[in-house]
Amino acid sequence: MTYLELRQVAFYYPRKMKPALTGINLKFEKEEITAITGPNGCGKTTLTKLMIGVLRATEGEIYLAGSPLTNYSLGEIGRRIGYVFQKPDLQLFCSTVAEEVGFGLNNRGYDPETVKEKIKFYLDYFELTGYQNAFPLNLSQGEKERLAIAAVLANEPEFLILDEPTIGLDAFRKKLLENYLKKIARLGRGMILISHDESFVNRLAERVVIMADGRIQGCNERKESACYEA
Ligand SMILES: Nc1ncnc2c1ncn2[C@@H]1O[C@H](COP(=O)(O)OP(=O)(O)O)[C@@H](O)[C@H]1O
Ligand SMILES: [Mg+2]
Repeated sequence: MTYLELRQVAFYYPRKMKPALTGINLKFEKEEITAITGPNGCGKTTLTKLMIGVLRATEGEIYLAGSPLTNYSLGEIGRRIGYVFQKPDLQLFCSTVAEEVGFGLNNRGYDPETVKEKIKFYLDYFELTGYQNAFPLNLSQGEKERLAIAAVLANEPEFLILDEPTIGLDAFRKKLLENYLKKIARLGRGMILISHDESFVNRLAERVVIMADGRIQGCNERKESACYEA
């Protein structure tokens, strides 16, 4: 079954005459990696904010797992779809790095030992171990990006949306992120990557959606994606 579907979606920001998005018809499968590309201001971030219910479509319908998105609470959507914001500062709110990674797990009632183990795993993987007691907003840009990604991945959501996740990451950290995303893709979890990083997109995405000026300009299937190679 299609996981996310947009039908004839349009969106206007308040007091704007020109739509930020118009005539959007798109389907996303649960186990597929789709990249969304297009110039700055073409509507990529707006499109994904509609998919998680943070913004509401002005026209058209959005479906999640076959039901209208409006039937779900924001909390229900958040438990299903992990979302990494373009600006990590907007999503970090805990007083330490370790708390940030454990927040969702504690919230879902995992036992403290499991939470501790998972925090350790994600901090190690994203090379943040030395910062576990640091205040998240005092980290460098690249560290904040890694923390935001670690905090979302630690919740093990069934689907992921990452908005420009490679900005602020050096080549080595980009490769680490790529390897991790390939690993969760092999576990059957799909994702949407918004990225201008052509080599990152080429190595991960099975489908590339190209946007321009609030519309879908085209889609390329990339069956040769290296994603499922061992
Ligand atoms: N909060 C906002 N209020 C008004 N207009 C906005 C807001 N956020 C984005 N826009 C406008 O909507 C359009 C699409 O923006 P955005 O979705 O951020 O594009 P992208 O992520 O592709 O760079 C742009 O013209 C932008 O100026
Ligand atoms: Mg954007």
